[in-house]
Amino acid sequence: MSAAPEAGRPTALPVGGPGAAGAPWSSGVRRRADGEVEVAGVPVSGLATEHGTPAYVLDEADFRARARAYRSAFEAAFAAVGAGVDVYYAGKALLTVAVARWATQEGLRVDTASGGELAVALRADVPGAAIGLHGNNKSDAEVLAALDAGVGRIIVDSLVEIERVAGLAASRGVVAPVMVRVTTGVHAGGHEYISTAHEDQKFGLSVNPGPDGGTSPALAALDAVVARPELELLGIHSHIGSQILEPSGFEAAARVVLQLRADLSARTGVLVAEVDLGGGYGIAYLPGEEALEPAPVAVSVAQAVAAISRELGTPLPRFSIEPGRAIVGPAGLTLYTVGTVKPVTVSDDAAGTFTRLYVSVDGGMSDNIRPALYGADYHAELVGRTSDAVPVLARVVGKHCESGDVVVHQVMLPGDVRAGDLLAVAATGAYGRSMASNYNALARPPVVAVADGTSRVLVRRETVEDLLALDQG
Ligand code: LLP
Repeated sequence: MSAAPEAGRPTALPVGGPGAAGAPWSSGVRRRADGEVEVAGVPVSGLATEHGTPAYVLDEADFRARARAYRSAFEAAFAAVGAGVDVYYAGKALLTVAVARWATQEGLRVDTASGGELAVALRADVPGAAIGLHGNNKSDAEVLAALDAGVGRIIVDSLVEIERVAGLAASRGVVAPVMVRVTTGVHAGGHEYISTAHEDQKFGLSVNPGPDGGTSPALAALDAVVARPELELLGIHSHIGSQILEPSGFEAAARVVLQLRADLSARTGVLVAEVDLGGGYGIAYLPGEEALEPAPVAVSVAQAVAAISRELGTPLPRFSIEPGRAIVGPAGLTLYTVGTVKPVTVSDDAAGTFTRLYVSVDGGMSDNIRPALYGADYHAELVGRTSDAVPVLARVVGKHCESGDVVVHQVMLPGDVRAGDLLAVAATGAYGRSMASNYNALARPPVVAVADGTSRVLVRRETVEDLLALDQG
């Protein structure tokens, strides 16, 4: 959450601008000499006229460049230590048919987390072999859809699921390629990570022995997969968290996974071929914030896994990673139109009395739940024009019937911000549209791609008629 502002002076937030160094906007965002902002050569006023607001705007070249940057950084760093690596785009961040195609065209594979995401990837003609299916509670229908599509891997998450996937594979007469998702005790996110003895969460199988000190659930699951002829054990999977800003958590998890791999080998003679280190690469949401750059993190993780494997005396496996946010987050912005603007006098023990300008926009928590759900901070700017008005402390809020309906907790906006102005919120490409809702029967905004001076609709705007069509009366 944002800190309370100082008395008398609204705040000392960093002031960034589209195109400014350290700003959280996609590379195609520029402010023109006349004050209007354009994305990949398309002025925001044109986007608003053509597609309406609110709208998710996706900078295609920026998405592609980030996908390429991750792939080339990891391929180079892992090749340097003699290992191969595959980059899966984590579709949960944002998956549309075009987005899945872009990822594939840039040489990425696609990670899905449900039958719905799998269907989108298949509609985009992503080859089954290049798709992974996750989920802690996959339905039989989802597993069968994955088997029928010939997915490259199903990441199994529990002992009962191992039996279920084996049975379903037998029913189809196929061998299912599986990875076992383990919990390493490493949680990462932000600048810190902590090791814990036990995992109090629903995902994966712990590498730690149970209370009786016997075999760990992870090793028991690997044994169970090895024992089933309908399953092919591809490897071990670990995902440690989100919005991670330094590589040590990945390295700590890799050590645990590689140790587990060595233990399995000593126990059964099976040396699994692959290790997935998951996603979670952090991005900048605010001006001046640091992001995790792919090249340095790739080098330090590759060097760490090489050193750990040497210590263990085991040959390096093939690796994979699953970035979602780091590829699509900064490539997206949300364009809103300002409605009601209301100064509110606020009294606060720490800051005294000050005025906060509440700037309501035509969307809110239904198109971006992250501020309400996680206290996530975002940055907004006036993008249809510039203004010389003195900046004031503002809070951008939505139009929902809920006081927690905040889009940007704290931002400096020109004091003359008014109804009809266009406002853009930066870095909303990940987990905005994919977690959108129809709260208050609001129709979800379109996803509009911009490239080379033109825009096109990837997912059309919903209408109230769409919502009514679902309602059977
Ligand atoms: N792989 C696995 C197995 C995951 O569970 C996740 C995210 C990812 C990859 C991609 O993580 P990314 O690189 O995008 O951080 N809704 C939250 C994020 C939840 C992520 C859950 N798993 C948010 O809005 O921050």
